[in-house]
Amino acid sequence: PGAKLYSANCQSCHQATGQGIPGAFPPLTHLDKVVQAKGGREYLIRVVLYGLQGPLTVEGKTYNGVMPPFRHLKDQEVADLLNHILTAFAKSKAKPITAQEVKAQRAKPLSPQEVLKSRPPVK
Ligand code: HEM
Repeated sequence: PGAKLYSANCQSCHQATGQGIPGAFPPLTHLDKVVQAKGGREYLIRVVLYGLQGPLTVEGKTYNGVMPPFRHLKDQEVADLLNHILTAFAKSKAKPITAQEVKAQRAKPLSPQEVLKSRPPVK
């Protein structure tokens, strides 16, 4: 289910295999490092629910763009989407993100700038 959600909602910016466009849209292939970091699971959920804005360095390249929020997706859809990205693009073996974890972040609304401040320190 995550693959369809990815192509419908994310692929236009992050590209078919999550490679992104350097300088414009960050890749998603490094996200195992993010999900394994303290606070990383919560951060990834927040990015999808609330969007992201502000200066960010990913794999040595800088970004200062705006990602829109996807709060209209259901908790299970956000979980499916993130689990697809993590397994297919980031080759992650982290335990799957659950709808319950998404629900917990939905209860704490943040601005896209606040989401960026909650990013774990991962290059
Ligand atoms: C950043 C996922 C849709 C543009 C990110 C990050 C994630 C992500 C996880 C943060 C990467 C990191 O911190 O290392 C997704 C998912 C999407 C989606 C799952 C679909 C629901 C989009 C779309 C756009 C977009 C449609 C373009 C309109 C961006 C930009 C950033 C970003 C510009 C960096 C923002 C900044 O510079 O602060 N995305 N994305 N994303 N995304 Fe998306």
